[in-house]
Amino acid sequence: MGQKIGLIRGDGIGPEVTEATVRVVDALGLGFEWVPLPAGERAVEKYGDVLPQRTIDGILECKVALKGPVTTPIGYGFKSVNVQLRQRLSLFAAIRPVRSLPGIKTRYEDVDIVVVRENTEGLYSGIENEITEGVVTSLKVATRKASERIARAAFAYCCLRRRHKLTVFHKANIMKLSDGLFIDCCRKIHETEFKNDVEYEEMIIDNGCMQLVRDPTRFDVLLLENLYGDVISDLCAAFVGGLGVVPGANIGEECAVFEAVHGSAPDIAGKNKANPLALIRSAVMMVRHLGEVEAYTRLKKAYHGILEEGRPEELTYDLGGTAGTKEFADAIIRRIDG
Ligand SMILES: NC(=O)c1ccc[n+]([C@@H]2O[C@H](COP(=O)([O-])OP(=O)(O)OC[C@H]3O[C@@H](n4cnc5c(N)ncnc54)[C@H](O)[C@@H]3O)[C@@H](O)[C@H]2O)c1
Repeated sequence: MGQKIGLIRGDGIGPEVTEATVRVVDALGLGFEWVPLPAGERAVEKYGDVLPQRTIDGILECKVALKGPVTTPIGYGFKSVNVQLRQRLSLFAAIRPVRSLPGIKTRYEDVDIVVVRENTEGLYSGIENEITEGVVTSLKVATRKASERIARAAFAYCCLRRRHKLTVFHKANIMKLSDGLFIDCCRKIHETEFKNDVEYEEMIIDNGCMQLVRDPTRFDVLLLENLYGDVISDLCAAFVGGLGVVPGANIGEECAVFEAVHGSAPDIAGKNKANPLALIRSAVMMVRHLGEVEAYTRLKKAYHGILEEGRPEELTYDLGGTAGTKEFADAIIRRIDG
């Protein structure tokens, strides 16, 4: 029997991009067995819960899952499925490579950044109180345990992937205790475990944003707490072609969930318009994570070929083309088969 992969289709463009991705991965002939798992709006309709326990159990059983984006109501309603999933499965490290791609022209060239985001704490504790009419507090959580864990994972990632410098963005000048603890842990892990292997740098995040936009090529690996990582991931996506192309992995000690940086894009949902490349590239990360190096190289070569040639009928609208989600996947499959 093949490797089991949990599959969350998600909301909005989720079903379209997951279907395209599953077809592309199946074309590699690895014999994966997809295990559908409910989450999001349709899980509420069927199970009365946005994230049923069966989905958590299913991911733990498969150890690996591919996930489409899930909608979260703004300003009311249930706690984000994504936040819950990352907290309940302890998927503490989001790894988001942001690289310039062949054929995709942006304002920047030769960008090669990896955003590492702490996935379980910070302002995503979801603990908010209305103390009195018109006064609300939101609790930012930082623990030594989680901060050291993500710092160690980020430095270890640098060593594994031969990245030479890690930059931490923070706001410890204002949040002296929470961000203060975060950078204290980063300094300690660097000093005691990685001093000779990786260069370490800190930047106050407002200056960091300016430096990023001025010249993203000066950065290598970025390490950020949860909220900063969320925001900076989208900002970095714009350096290399937008949200339609940037992949991601959520890694924990027991399992890993691969998903694009983008959301459910309700503005283009159901129109066969979404670019599935971000999720396909997340699947590429998954295939590599599973040790399928030959398939990883084959799939990468297939979409690089399409991007390099730049034929409008093989590119989605966000990259200046006329192809739909399905047609883009078909073009990749033709190259894998050919
Ligand atoms: N991991 C996740 O599941 C995740 C991540 C971010 C946002 N969300 C949720 O998604 C919903 C919509 O959020 P949003 O509009 O702020 O962000 P979004 O990422 O869904 O969309 C932002 C913009 O990027 C475009 N875009 C996104 N993905 C694209 C793709 N694959 N191809 C082409 N264009 C693409 C959209 O059309 C939109 O114009 C919200 O409910 C939010 O909570 C979910």
